[in-house]
Amino acid sequence: MTPSSKTPRDAYKDLERRFERMNLVRDAASMLEWDAATYMPDGGADARADQLATLRVVRHEMLTDPAIGDVLARAGEAADLDPWERANLHEMRRERVHATAVPSALVEARSQATSACEMRWRSARRDDDFAGLLPLFEEVLKLTREVAAAKSSSLDVSPYDALLDEWEPGGRAADIDVVFAAIERFLPSLVERVIERQASLPILAPPVGPFPAERQRALADRVMRALGFDFAHGRLDVSAHPFCIGVPDDVRITTRWDEADFANGLFGVIHETGHALYERGLPKRWRKQPVGQARGMSTHESQSLLFEMQATRSPEFVGWLAGVAREVFGGSGPAWSAEALLQHVQRVKRSFIRIDADEVTYPLHVVLRFRLERALLSGDLPLKDLPGAFADGMQRLLGVRPSTHRDGSLQDIHWPSGTFGYFPTYTLGALTAAQLYGAAVKQAPAIPGALAKGDASPLTAWLVEHVHGLGSSIAPGEIVRRATGEPLSPEIFRRHLEHRYLAS
Ligand code: CO
Repeated sequence: MTPSSKTPRDAYKDLERRFERMNLVRDAASMLEWDAATYMPDGGADARADQLATLRVVRHEMLTDPAIGDVLARAGEAADLDPWERANLHEMRRERVHATAVPSALVEARSQATSACEMRWRSARRDDDFAGLLPLFEEVLKLTREVAAAKSSSLDVSPYDALLDEWEPGGRAADIDVVFAAIERFLPSLVERVIERQASLPILAPPVGPFPAERQRALADRVMRALGFDFAHGRLDVSAHPFCIGVPDDVRITTRWDEADFANGLFGVIHETGHALYERGLPKRWRKQPVGQARGMSTHESQSLLFEMQATRSPEFVGWLAGVAREVFGGSGPAWSAEALLQHVQRVKRSFIRIDADEVTYPLHVVLRFRLERALLSGDLPLKDLPGAFADGMQRLLGVRPSTHRDGSLQDIHWPSGTFGYFPTYTLGALTAAQLYGAAVKQAPAIPGALAKGDASPLTAWLVEHVHGLGSSIAPGEIVRRATGEPLSPEIFRRHLEHRYLAS
């Protein structure tokens, strides 16, 4: 049967079957990735790389099959699609444009260049050698510009927005600019005031380690259960870098334990649990379809940060947590009090490294990267000038000046691996988390009281209804607007920070 001989509805159904198969291939690959990062013996690495590369190629071939173009066009004529089917069709088109916009020779060249550059970045960071990385980095940037240009004409948006769209569907730099300009106006002075205030308070010393990994694991289990993680449909394991991967019925998270400070591993677990709960709450009916997937990176990060920064760093939850921690580690005395733990997990300081930053200073790291990556992509900032621009920006925004590349422009893997347009999603996610949590507590006032008893179920129920269950049926900004009654607002984030860090 040729596409034109199908009814539009049959064409749509054909697409559902095709995308279901593609997504199952992707899901199978994700389990192999999890295994590679956790239990696979080192000697399996080459075989695993071949398996993963092949599954990726198979999926790409399915997605770029020329026949799909006609089927998509025919399905678009269907007048009887319901809103979810229509949204599903929209997501299918989006995936297809991202996969077909770039000529395969360019995809291949970029993949080679980013692998080489990423590999070199590891030693360049260790040796603090920006100049040594520069030639490979230049190549990655040049090919990324070509990819951005190709996607820009297919998506009919600017080159930067075309890259942003991969991570933040429908996102626009112009909108982010407005939000980030507001952050730039209020946050540096707010950081100043918070640090002064914290310095003026008596320090409550936190408990001193070492904290055995197996006790930390026991604590993490208790906390994950309190947050609603279902161990019949997921696991917690250890890996070098924490992540969350899998499917709603089988979601895998990882962490690493820090024997000197149990809060590091624990709040990492809480972060990944937030990601996992989102996956678990995605709409059942649409799990194998594009519309049933999580709504991009800012929404995903909002769910992890909502638990990590909003719910579990609240005085209510920390009160419960301190009791459980005393029990699990056999601790006693003032170091184990809820007040000491709260002070410890709400400590703010200026620092060089983004991934170690607290929630108050973190957005400034991101604002800097957003400005710089656009300038790099447009050519306004030559790559060789990046280290100086990076250091100047940190000085201006964060009040610290890195004296090494390692503490400055070489700290993140994103750009050397060709990932541009991703950084803003961290801060959009933090703002979204603050706004959603505020609305959740207003609409369901039982949430804080339940958290004080180690019960996150009222919160999770609210999130399933207002975020998780929507999958990708509406845009990220629309999720926020419907759930909270207003568009994403830096003002709400500012109020959250002032309330938490400056109110008496
Ligand atoms: Co995350």
